[in-house]
Amino acid sequence: MPCHTHAAHDPAWCIQQTDFAGSSLKAYEGLFAQGAPGLHIRGSLEEPIADAPQGLRYWRTPGNVTAEVFREARSKFGTYLPGIYGSHPILNNELVNLPWFLWLVPEIDGSALDADSDAVAEHERTLDLRDNTLVRALTWRTPGGARVSLLYERFVSMDAGARGVRLCVQRLTIDTDRATDVTVRAGIDADVTTNGYDHFKRVDLAAEGERVRCAVQTDLGDRVEIESILLAPHAAEAHAEGRRGWSEARAQVTPGTPLVIEKRTTVTTSRDAPDGGGTGELLEAFAGAGFDDLHRAHADAWRAKWAHADVRIQGDDRAQLAVRTSIAHLLRTLPHASDRVAIDAKGYAGEAYWGRFFWDTEMYLLPFYLYTDPAGARALADFRIHSLEGAQRNAHKLGLPGAKYAWESDQLGDECCPNWQYADHEVHITSDVVYGLAHVARATGDDSYLDTHAACVLFDAARYWTARVSVRPGDDHPSILGVMGPDEYTPIADNNAYTNRLASFALEAAADAAARTGQCRDEARTWRELGRTLPIHRRADGLVLQSDAFDRLPLADFDGRWKDRTRPFASQAPQEYLYRTQCLKQADVLMLMWLFDSEFSIEDQRTAWRYYEPRTTHDSSLSAAIHSMMACRLGLNEEAWRFWEEACAIDLDGGAAEGIHIAACGAVWQMVVFGFAGMRSAMEDEVLTLDPRLPAGWTTLEFPLVWRGTSVQVRVTKDGVELRHSGAASLSARVAGELREIPAGGVGRWATGGTTAP
Ligand code: BGC
Repeated sequence: MPCHTHAAHDPAWCIQQTDFAGSSLKAYEGLFAQGAPGLHIRGSLEEPIADAPQGLRYWRTPGNVTAEVFREARSKFGTYLPGIYGSHPILNNELVNLPWFLWLVPEIDGSALDADSDAVAEHERTLDLRDNTLVRALTWRTPGGARVSLLYERFVSMDAGARGVRLCVQRLTIDTDRATDVTVRAGIDADVTTNGYDHFKRVDLAAEGERVRCAVQTDLGDRVEIESILLAPHAAEAHAEGRRGWSEARAQVTPGTPLVIEKRTTVTTSRDAPDGGGTGELLEAFAGAGFDDLHRAHADAWRAKWAHADVRIQGDDRAQLAVRTSIAHLLRTLPHASDRVAIDAKGYAGEAYWGRFFWDTEMYLLPFYLYTDPAGARALADFRIHSLEGAQRNAHKLGLPGAKYAWESDQLGDECCPNWQYADHEVHITSDVVYGLAHVARATGDDSYLDTHAACVLFDAARYWTARVSVRPGDDHPSILGVMGPDEYTPIADNNAYTNRLASFALEAAADAAARTGQCRDEARTWRELGRTLPIHRRADGLVLQSDAFDRLPLADFDGRWKDRTRPFASQAPQEYLYRTQCLKQADVLMLMWLFDSEFSIEDQRTAWRYYEPRTTHDSSLSAAIHSMMACRLGLNEEAWRFWEEACAIDLDGGAAEGIHIAACGAVWQMVVFGFAGMRSAMEDEVLTLDPRLPAGWTTLEFPLVWRGTSVQVRVTKDGVELRHSGAASLSARVAGELREIPAGGVGRWATGGTTAP
């Protein structure tokens, strides 16, 4: 095998694929998604797959995604540009799957490479998380009897991406045991659909020599141009046919002298800065650099990212790989602030959630960025400020004032969720947005953020809530009626505790900002009063009720109806049954208690755990992590570990076919830092506070943090905690209840005398 980018695969940094059969191909396409700000690609193979045409037209209709069975397809290609949406006639706006440009296939003895054929052996792919480089190696016995080694390497340049340039670089190295004539085909295929729908109003293809250029115009009017160049030893010949164009280069490979072919692709859009240059000019700009030069710059950019984000776990290889896989996807998906987008629920790696933004942004993703890359975190939080007008339109459509953030938001903030239950009723999102903005202010220590940039969001959210509350006849308190809390299996509930508490939070935040800035004085009085009087209802024995009369619903018959526990409960019980029984999709009251710990006694939290956890199906990928963290807090070590393992398995063990569960990735980081290291967020504590509980197998846990502007290195072992910081002032920190001052640029050590372990 000729030398390639990675001398050795480090198991602590690499995910490998050796199974190319059945449905696993699609799962790896999600798991191996690569990208940089502005451009993301699914981890598909480099050749078209015979039984998986990508241009099929079909209707994906609105349904409950939890129970949705996705279309059978062996492979799903994906090219996504954050911000490029199309209009679907029944599903509303969705992120467009753009033309596929990874096509790079050798043909020998009249036969093109086909991963399915028996002639292919020793086939493996490795995603190196250090630099998000995908390497594929295989041996091919050609029809003429030659034994050919193929090595593919590819990356989406993080170095170029950081400068606003979308560049994908591929290299194919071909070695053989006898002189062999090879034809290599490299192309762009625009015969692709998104969820079965064709969003292209126009496709222009031009192929000339080694270059193929494809421009598409979407149904929302964006123009995206993709241009590839094939770098081969001899001149190439171009072809175009329908929506496909490709260049073909021929060469002879002789033993010991591998043939090295490169393909580079750049992408531009009509939204880019006008002076950004066209695809052709961009390709020219990289012409002087070889693959290794481009890869070095790319790897350096990734190294810089890992330096402030890597979590090191000693003693548990699976945990190490799981957390790095999650972080790699989080680092890949963070958008540029100027793109004015957030991170969609499938991490720009699949179409299941139509490329839309959920509360996942604030509650599951934001913490990772806030405590590792606060400036980057602003890009996410600011998206809500930029999309305020969309939220105002959503409120207006319902005849309400202010702003109602979309349950499923597109790039402009408009509600796109095609299901009325969620779109109209899962209203906690508006307060989650405010919570996220407040979290930015607290974690960065920049209170002015709320009074300047974010104030308009706070005021409009408060106006919305003021109109959304009701007072029922006979009640002496306001209520929020007809809502769906985080638990999506209880659809039209009253006084959902989570929704009420978060609405109070949003109302108080607006009243506080009004007081500080001297604006909206009259309204602010109402906001404060409402915030104070929205109730959290409890049963006589003190149990915090998820919503009014929740405890009067009958229990769900899990034993009778949920025979196959490897699949969601919702796949085996009709939606109407979910809606009329006590069964939760995910943490609801426990989510509330997770966020507002200091407002609930440990006994309240234990009671809630004992009541709600057995009623929870964990059908949502967002559920396990919150339960793991709550279990850590409650000292339920076995449960903490069980839920941790469940959360880690979500994408690693075959769940990424329709995209990465990026919120679960954010939650994996939270489970390590907030759960096992027991850090309290800046929303809960002004002082950096840790109370670690290392799992039995972990000997050392280390991670970097930014705490209110100070960079801190955390090291937790069985015996103690070490905090090292580089701040110019001293830093207060509390570990296992003991408060200390760490001098400027110094180290603080706490002996914790053996931490408890699950
Ligand atoms: C969950 C939501 C989540 C959404 C997107 C749903 O299944 O119930 O809480 O926001 O997925 O991740």
